[in-house]
Amino acid sequence: MYIGIDLGTSGVKAVLVDKTQTVVTARTEGLTVSRPHPGWSEQNPEDWWQAVLRCFAALRTAEPDAFAKVRGIGLSGQQHGAVLLDEDGQVLRPCILWNDQRAGAECAEIERRFPRSREVCANIAMPGFTAPKLLWVARHEPEIFAATRHVLLPKAWVRYRLTGDMIEDMSDASGTLWLDVGARRWSDEALAACDLTEATMPTLCEGTDPAGHVTPALASEWGWKTPPVLAGSAGDNAAGAVGIGAIIPGSAFLSLGTSGVLWVTTDRLRTGTRSAIHAFCHAIPATWHQMGVTLSAAASLAWWARVTGMEETALLAELPERIEHPSEAIFLPYLSGERTPYNDPEIRGGFLGLSQDTTRAALTQAVLEGVAFSFRDALDGLRESGSALTEADVIGGGSRSPHWVRILSSVLDLPLHRLKHGERGGSFGAARLARMAVTGEAPATVCGAPERIETVLPDPVLRDAYAAILPRYRALYPAVRGLVAKETADAEA
Ligand code: XUL
Repeated sequence: MYIGIDLGTSGVKAVLVDKTQTVVTARTEGLTVSRPHPGWSEQNPEDWWQAVLRCFAALRTAEPDAFAKVRGIGLSGQQHGAVLLDEDGQVLRPCILWNDQRAGAECAEIERRFPRSREVCANIAMPGFTAPKLLWVARHEPEIFAATRHVLLPKAWVRYRLTGDMIEDMSDASGTLWLDVGARRWSDEALAACDLTEATMPTLCEGTDPAGHVTPALASEWGWKTPPVLAGSAGDNAAGAVGIGAIIPGSAFLSLGTSGVLWVTTDRLRTGTRSAIHAFCHAIPATWHQMGVTLSAAASLAWWARVTGMEETALLAELPERIEHPSEAIFLPYLSGERTPYNDPEIRGGFLGLSQDTTRAALTQAVLEGVAFSFRDALDGLRESGSALTEADVIGGGSRSPHWVRILSSVLDLPLHRLKHGERGGSFGAARLARMAVTGEAPATVCGAPERIETVLPDPVLRDAYAAILPRYRALYPAVRGLVAKETADAEA
């Protein structure tokens, strides 16, 4: 038996998986995000821990016999967040999350201090990444920076609570901007650009490695005679990839989670900094990946549901059963700024093309389409940087919406495959990593692909209609860029 835990932004999800890879029971516990200033995004690590504990309790109550047989635990985590610990291992401030936009100026400063940053760390310095956040803390909260002895990513902090060990896997470490991504080791030069050294960093391992045991105290509390092993684990996108078997070079998927990710597995490091394509280590040894990231994917629909006071399902139910025409409105999904292709923390979202006749349903459709256009930017960025995609699987909560998948397929002009259990996310992949860490089985043996339940092909009429709108969508970014408020700067003033 294995447990996979996905520490997401909107919730912690835990699954209990048996040796036939059947999910025996699952539990999700919700989380909220605090936004103390416009453009900021934080969570309290203690809230993650309490949610993890509630998940464990729920799994144990639902399946006590299976729970007692757990041999390994894998973690999947929202990437990039900075958990700062003092010398006693105490959390110094709330975690600054992956979609926080405060550290724009610090990105420029890092690249000035370490001009080879893009070459060594394989990525543009983006405000969501960990390194700029530390520089921001050094500038704005110097007493906290001075007290910081350890920096952990969110799921590494959960591991620390479970095991007492500070260990980080390569896939998540790639999003810090302190990793030499090609060499799979910390970069002294990158750390020095933030006035840090390797002493502050957790020990590195591969996602499939064993990486600590549950402490004896917790093991006895949960009734485990032999404390389960923790897997090296993975960032949530890499864990999602492991969960659907995207471990072979060329495998591609589109993840419609809070953020949106278009992913391609690669056999070597391939960078794509021109269009803010991310190049990270995979959770599988000697494997890498590229991805384009749009910051507000399902988060855009969730925002629209909040604004309208409607349930997302009720909004989607107002759409025509089969979408035949693009909405008259265009939506820019830059609610938290954007990474791919602009790396712009200050841009904000918007609707354009509204008339007296525009309905709520037309705006809902525009939201789905705006996110799809943003994925199109990611697709073109990936192609430009050497990853040729001809099809992709679709995963994440948003993949449940036939409307969204149809729109995406036509905007991307790609066949998209819906998967059985495609909404599972990183938790199932994390359980697979736990199994590999315990048994030493090869990734190819454990990481099969789920059944494809449907292939959605581009609709020729819709595809041509979206192709005609794409240049207008793209023209909007440079047109509105200088017009939106510089909220991060205002917040600092
Ligand atoms: C990836 C990223 C997001 C988070 C979401 O670079 O920032 O996908 O991992 O949890």
